Amino acid sequence: MMIPFHHILFACVSLTCTEGLLSPSTVDQTTKYDTDSPNIPKQVHIGFGGTTNEMIVMWSTRQNDSSFVEYHNGDNSKENVKTSRGNTVYFPENSNGLQYLHRVVLTNLQPSVKYYYAVRGEKRESLSDQFSFTTPNSDGKQVFMIYGDMGTMTKSLPFIVYEATGEMKYSSIFHLGDIAYDLGREHGAIGDKFFSRVERMASRIPYMTIPGDHEMFPDSKNHYFHRISNPGKEWPMHPEDMWYSVNIGKVHFICISTEVFFTNKENIQKIMDWLVQDLEEANSRRQKYPWVIVMAHRPLYCSTDDKNEDCTKTHSVVRTHLEDMFYFYGVDLVFSGHQHMYERTWPVYKNRVLAYNYLDPRGTVHIVIGNMGNIYLAEKGSRPGGPWSSFISPSQHEMYGRLHVHNSSHIYWEVRGAQDNDLYDKRWIIQRIHGPFNKSSIFIPDPLGAAGAAWREQQDDSSDIISLRFFYMNGDDYTNRVTVLAFTIIILLFGLCFKKKILNIIRLCFVKQESLPK
Ligand SMILES: *[C@@H]1O[C@H](CO)[C@@H](O)[C@H](O)[C@H]1NC(C)=O
Ligand SMILES: *[C@@H]1O[C@H](CO)[C@@H](O)[C@H](O)[C@H]1NC(C)=O
Ligand SMILES: *[C@@H]1O[C@H](CO)[C@@H](O)[C@H](O)[C@H]1NC(C)=O
Repeated sequence: MMIPFHHILFACVSLTCTEGLLSPSTVDQTTKYDTDSPNIPKQVHIGFGGTTNEMIVMWSTRQNDSSFVEYHNGDNSKENVKTSRGNTVYFPENSNGLQYLHRVVLTNLQPSVKYYYAVRGEKRESLSDQFSFTTPNSDGKQVFMIYGDMGTMTKSLPFIVYEATGEMKYSSIFHLGDIAYDLGREHGAIGDKFFSRVERMASRIPYMTIPGDHEMFPDSKNHYFHRISNPGKEWPMHPEDMWYSVNIGKVHFICISTEVFFTNKENIQKIMDWLVQDLEEANSRRQKYPWVIVMAHRPLYCSTDDKNEDCTKTHSVVRTHLEDMFYFYGVDLVFSGHQHMYERTWPVYKNRVLAYNYLDPRGTVHIVIGNMGNIYLAEKGSRPGGPWSSFISPSQHEMYGRLHVHNSSHIYWEVRGAQDNDLYDKRWIIQRIHGPFNKSSIFIPDPLGAAGAAWREQQDDSSDIISLRFFYMNGDDYTNRVTVLAFTIIILLFGLCFKKKILNIIRLCFVKQESLPK
């Protein structure tokens, strides 16, 4: 866009919602956010409950009040409007913001239904604007918006809000940690500012988060536990319970905290046990939810010049803990932030590229999408940190990702500029054999039989460049190796069959040269 597109967007974003009200007489929309009325609900945001049939609605008020949500599915006749009650928590640490936090869980929602809702306290005068959300369908195509590391100073935040509420009809948003920079800063004023700024989208599209390092800062962690309510967890949340999984459409999303490996180490065993259990279950239900996708703040693989970053290290703490597990349980994709850049890897395991394509990958594909930045521009990626790096954005643009889950086998991933929607990267990922990666999908009998297998066991893998083992390793990159072997054999056979002809041609060349006149 050449024209000052931002201005148009700002105009669009600031348009008032024109949907009807639950009871039009009770709310004066134009003045709502100007009044300092203590009980006007602010910072409304939603997120999935334990399943997509549940929606958690949260908001804040200045004074103590009860928590109610009135909602209906489009028919606002009196008998169809339901009211759910939730609870209020006093959060004194938010001393520069709204200290009463409200949470109501709506249950038994139907799939693919547009629900209209408004929140209120004890009295109907406190009724909020009307908002709406649409529950995802259990089949069919889904689109998810994914980004990490976004704060109140992020220049593109208004664009993100505009995009999220537009044509694309996102099933949910995933903010991969580092929220607001920081939730607790200025005694909570920044946290309040953030949730006010994202309200327009977060009140309509489930706003799913994981904690980043900034959410574990001493001044911010309680803000994270209070302002967010993760699916199926107690609220306020607990430090030992910051991870969850949720099935949306054909995807089993696993949302973890990588901070346990750094600031919250007493919980390492808890998350590891939980992951094994969750991944076991996920694999037993892969027919229904074939895609297994992990959301993590810190990446397992990244290319950056900052050698202090865990993901650049040979013995990366995050990778050491998680990579084997993700491989054994066949995690298709890992999304992360933390690095303020965009990078996509090939299917990779233990630093080894398993294929230079995305057709039935036999290893996890890693995507770093942390370039919404903080208060500065996105960082430029450095040179590739390894052969596994397939694409690093050379641009300092802020970007977000769209994950289109078409069906059980096809995912389309695209990355767009958060100022103009310019396309920066796109890729189809096709997986028709979901499941553990260490299970070889195609069985090719070992030509050397059991004796060969025993012999290969004794060989040292790293010592030679081409050994028989190179061709016979199970699992990873197996098809590529077999292809190389097949080509070598074909060339050798070709040479044998046409031995005479080839020799004749060579001889001919020499003879001709010799017979040339001097
Ligand atoms: C808020 O009000 C409820 C009901 O009136 C009361 O039970 C609760 O103690 C109050 N909370 C605070 C922190 O004042
Ligand atoms: C899955 O989606 C892709 C892309 O839309 C399509 O080409 C493919 O035929 C679909 N596969 C099935 C089994 O529906
Ligand atoms: C894959 O790895 C898991 C976990 O170590 C192991 O239990 C399983 O036997 C392995 N499968 C194969 C086919 O090697």
